[in-house]
Amino acid sequence: MSIPHGEAWQRIATETVPTLTELFAADPERVSRLSGRIQLDQGSVLFDWSKTHLTEGLIAGFEQLAESAGFDEMRRRLFAGEVVNPTEGRAAEHSALRGVGNVASVEEASALRERMRLLVQAIHEGALGEVKHLIHIGIGGSALGPALAVDALTHDLALVDVHVVSNIDGVALERAFAACDPATTLIAVASKTFTTIETMTNAQSALRWLEENGVQDPYGRVIALTAYPEKAVEWGVDETRVLPFAESVGGRYSLWSSIGFPIALAIGWNDFEAFLDGAATVDRHFHSANGAANLPLRAAFADQYYTRLRQAQTRAVFAYDERLGLFSDYLQQLEMESNGKSVTAEGDPVDAPTSPITWGGVGTDAQHAVFQLLHQGTNLVPVDFIASIAPGDDLDPAHHRILLMNCFAQGAALMAGRQSPDPARSYPGDRPSATILCDDIDPATLGALIAFHEHRTFANAVLMGINPFDQFGVELGKDIAKKIEKGGESFDPSTENLLQMAGLG
Ligand code: F6P
Repeated sequence: MSIPHGEAWQRIATETVPTLTELFAADPERVSRLSGRIQLDQGSVLFDWSKTHLTEGLIAGFEQLAESAGFDEMRRRLFAGEVVNPTEGRAAEHSALRGVGNVASVEEASALRERMRLLVQAIHEGALGEVKHLIHIGIGGSALGPALAVDALTHDLALVDVHVVSNIDGVALERAFAACDPATTLIAVASKTFTTIETMTNAQSALRWLEENGVQDPYGRVIALTAYPEKAVEWGVDETRVLPFAESVGGRYSLWSSIGFPIALAIGWNDFEAFLDGAATVDRHFHSANGAANLPLRAAFADQYYTRLRQAQTRAVFAYDERLGLFSDYLQQLEMESNGKSVTAEGDPVDAPTSPITWGGVGTDAQHAVFQLLHQGTNLVPVDFIASIAPGDDLDPAHHRILLMNCFAQGAALMAGRQSPDPARSYPGDRPSATILCDDIDPATLGALIAFHEHRTFANAVLMGINPFDQFGVELGKDIAKKIEKGGESFDPSTENLLQMAGLG
């Protein structure tokens, strides 16, 4: 029998939690107890949560919380393709794109993937003439995932040079134009809804650029990636170059679908499949592992502990790997758009903070910029470090050695602190971190890393009783922008003044 939610929280809140140093001193097995490894086809990823404050008591309390929150049932619904997004009456079937989930959805995704494979292969074989560049136009979930994956996986060689353009600020598109030759450039228009104003405006400007630069049939150079293929056809794209995906795939979870087209084009089809397979390995783990042995759920236990009981308002992620330079940008949307909510899935006000603010950057750069606050500031910031044992570079091994040593030193320093008679030189210590250590950053590992965070986000949402799959918070600003465009309405005095100053009033 599961205990009520409130009682589980009560138990968690009344646990006595020693310092990190005390926890290690009391338990020689702590590292292995709180580390877990996910084995991929080649290589593995280690998730070391031992430098968080999770105790056996806390874990038992959180396991009860997961039970009372209906975690098993919610997870079953997620993978069964049942409605898990009640406000929009939708399933969230990103795992089906990786081959794990409802059988019919997996089959549908596999048929759509085959269509994408054929187009990617045809382009590689020259069916659309010489293709050296792809300008991928999309925003939010239609851009951040492809940008991350292309950047992370094409360090050595990109089969096609990809430029991801998201911002409506024309400077972004002009930068891409400057780097591409119109005669050998394809345009991907990536939009789940095929209505997003930034994307559609950028797409029109890209067509004009092709036309003005002598491309005879600009529409013939466009590939559309969308859940609404009929809209893309209506807009002018030939249906043979429209790659659809299912409505039940959320925007920020869509890089595994045809939105991943630039990834496949840049890294090649086999590597794209390895990327999906890496994610599928994590899906299977998340689907079958129970309690704290479930690594994304275990991470969510620590997340909840810090946000709710230690009032951590942010969580930082630092990749000690240049290839993952866009990881924190990607994670911001995943976590903040999913769990930045104030009402429960039933529509009642939440009684505690929900998503912390996700932020971060790359090491060692960040050490010389923001780590001061992490070590001595007044905010508690749980930190995730991500690193790879294998280097991404071919230079003197000193580079990678220094990189990794610094990464591990930061976690140790945050935990141990250092006392000094001079308060300005004292470090309080006992500051938590988790470390994700990959054997290498390759397609499968990146897939696994992203899927881990998708499931961690979902697990957090279940523990908080919120719906992670809608995002109504983004609509109001869009509506007001439309009203401004239309004219005839007045706004607050500050906004009116700004509009007038910019000649828009
Ligand atoms: O404004 C938020 C949002 O709806 C995201 O959730 C989504 O990823 C992005 O806009 C882009 O939407 P679309 O893919 O439909 O253009």
